[in-house]
Amino acid sequence: MDAALFDKRRYPVVDAAAGYGEWAVSYEETVAAGLDRPLLESLVSIGWADIRQAIDLACGTGRTGAWLAMKGVRLIDGIDLTVQMLARAAEKGVYRSLQIGDVAGTPFAGASCDLCTMGLADEHLAELAPVYREAARLLVRGGHFVLVGYHPFFLMSGLPTHFHRDDGEAVTIRSYVHLFSEQYAAGQASGLSLVEFRECVIDERWLETKPKWRQFLHWPVSFVMVWRRG
Ligand SMILES: C[S@@+](CC[C@H](N)C(=O)[O-])C[C@H]1O[C@@H](n2cnc3c(N)ncnc32)[C@H](O)[C@@H]1O
Repeated sequence: MDAALFDKRRYPVVDAAAGYGEWAVSYEETVAAGLDRPLLESLVSIGWADIRQAIDLACGTGRTGAWLAMKGVRLIDGIDLTVQMLARAAEKGVYRSLQIGDVAGTPFAGASCDLCTMGLADEHLAELAPVYREAARLLVRGGHFVLVGYHPFFLMSGLPTHFHRDDGEAVTIRSYVHLFSEQYAAGQASGLSLVEFRECVIDERWLETKPKWRQFLHWPVSFVMVWRRG
């Protein structure tokens, strides 16, 4: 479902490549770290230090890659649609390679990694099935796909992903609502099994990093799913 159906702000809408192309300069300073960090830290089904090779889908500026490197993952490849985001990822020096491309069809070899990650990008994909199929193709047996997403509750409450231009104009990046049942169906159809599923609810601690979000106290803001390839 197009998130525009629920949009209450009605900012102008741009596609992902154009939007992140503009937002790349200030993305790291403005994105809420509370969306993904606490969820990643909470996972119990993955031994990060045991990962031999990871592929970070929709790697953006490399926040997830930097986190993985901090956890001891040595070989990380990244792919993203947006050149400007990739340029910032390269500055981090944690990726073995960075590719420009679509998560639905990457240039990486099949069965080449034991971890796939995709953070805060599924809401920009019109269809989920292709990225799940691609993650399943990339993973070795027993490998994991970690998907962190912006919560559909926020999108359906009329708050799609947006950023502010230098002149202060607010712009929405085209987003799609995916219900959890869609995630489940796409994972299952790709031969993946769901092994961990958590949601992040905004609490007082969360607000310490984004005080402006107080109006959303107690709202579920993000989620993580860990899938295993059988
Ligand atoms: C909110 S950012 C997340 C970046 C990073 N994963 C993070 O957690 O900070 C979303 C990213 O998804 C990328 N993206 C959106 N659609 C994509 C697609 N079909 N294929 C590859 N990357 C895509 C955008 O270019 C952007 O860098």
